[in-house]
Amino acid sequence: MVAKPLTGEQIEELKGLGETHFWPHSRPTGDMSDDTGIKLVTHSKGIWVEGPTGERHVDLIAGMWLKNIGHGRKEIADAVYEQMLDVSYSPGGTVAPATVKLASKVASLTPDPESRVYFVSGGSEAVETAIKMAKKYQYNLGERGRWKVISRQNSYHGATHLCMSLGFNHVNRPNDYGPLVPGNIRISNPGLTYRTLPGDWDMQYAYDLEKAIIDEGPDSVAAFIGEPISAASGIHIPHPEYWPTIREICDKYGIVMICDEVINGFGRTGKMFAVENWGIKPDIMTVAKALTSGYLPIGAAIASSKIGKVMEGEGPQTFKHLLTFGGSPPSCAAGLKNLEIMEREKLVQNSADNGKYLYEKLQELSDHRIVADVRGGMGLIAAVEFAKDKKTFEKFGGKFESRVGHLMEEHSLLGRGLDEIMSFSPPLTITKEEIDFVVDQTKKVITQLEKEF
Ligand SMILES: Cc1ncc(COP(=O)(O)O)c(C=O)c1O
Repeated sequence: MVAKPLTGEQIEELKGLGETHFWPHSRPTGDMSDDTGIKLVTHSKGIWVEGPTGERHVDLIAGMWLKNIGHGRKEIADAVYEQMLDVSYSPGGTVAPATVKLASKVASLTPDPESRVYFVSGGSEAVETAIKMAKKYQYNLGERGRWKVISRQNSYHGATHLCMSLGFNHVNRPNDYGPLVPGNIRISNPGLTYRTLPGDWDMQYAYDLEKAIIDEGPDSVAAFIGEPISAASGIHIPHPEYWPTIREICDKYGIVMICDEVINGFGRTGKMFAVENWGIKPDIMTVAKALTSGYLPIGAAIASSKIGKVMEGEGPQTFKHLLTFGGSPPSCAAGLKNLEIMEREKLVQNSADNGKYLYEKLQELSDHRIVADVRGGMGLIAAVEFAKDKKTFEKFGGKFESRVGHLMEEHSLLGRGLDEIMSFSPPLTITKEEIDFVVDQTKKVITQLEKEF
């Protein structure tokens, strides 16, 4: 089924309703203007999304880093339709086959196939669940004073109060909401700061974890959380020893290591999970988004057997935690079909191969006056950072960021120019020809920016 283009009158009516009643996420309310506002989309297929009058754009960040199998897959719709007719919700104390099958499938893909999977509705819930799980693990071991969590400045782990306290970046504006959740300690992130400082800051920042643990008192720290490759912190590929060192430090002090794979998971970095790039085994992984490629909401906290076993069985050791939509059968049916498609079409391999191709092509942009850095090379996740000064990374400021967004749109690219950084994380189905198109369009965007700034 393909949506028909809307008439001018229908578009105006929808914009009117949106202006008054629709509350968009992380955007100003009421702005549905063609120049600055929320856009209507009415159709999507593959890497493309279409507006109400038929104008097409490449979905450059796969929706919100989740459309890994691309848009418009009928197979997913069929699987969900059948599941909804069979069991659309499993009452308390029951479970649908699709939910059990997906738990087992996901566990089999992780570095610890004996893992146990706790389903939730999205990434923030997955992170909240993982943190509670880590604290309960410590409690069950008799480590009753361990309740603090160490995370990294400028990470993003979600929008709920706890997640905001963990992530603490300017997108969340956490200072606007009163005191943060106590016991969340933030260390530096190898992300954006690395490039303006001399020396090997990635590794310094890894050792900062040990310093923070000692400062806080090792017996008070329950967990550490970080995204393997942080999109919020500029898509910097960390030093090869960064994650193995974090793993060693967590082991040394008995701290639960949580890897937030909400963006990285399910092929984005050229492996099923990003942690495989460094051969590390987290204690808990959080996932969401691409588990269903965004066809239906889902998330999960995946406990390795080390964590899961401590909470097995009936009694005070049980993890008492309940979220109404965790393991929703239609979402799980979508997840199963999504993973089947990813395997059948070898999309993780495509991410590795075409990610490399994309990164090489993006290097062609490096000579431009305003391009300060091109990052990527590990799957289909890359960034082009603009700056007034290539050495100091001084930002243009003013209208630059919004001009990036507008010019991208004018050149058939729908994505992000946040912080004067263009993110490249298209569906994993993208072909080399489509990458050529994306890079050509990006060149045009940059040429125009250079004329204006
Ligand atoms: C790394 C990471 N963790 C957690 C979240 C929160 O996910 P959600 O928006 O589904 O709650 C996000 C969202 O973008 C994310 O990027």
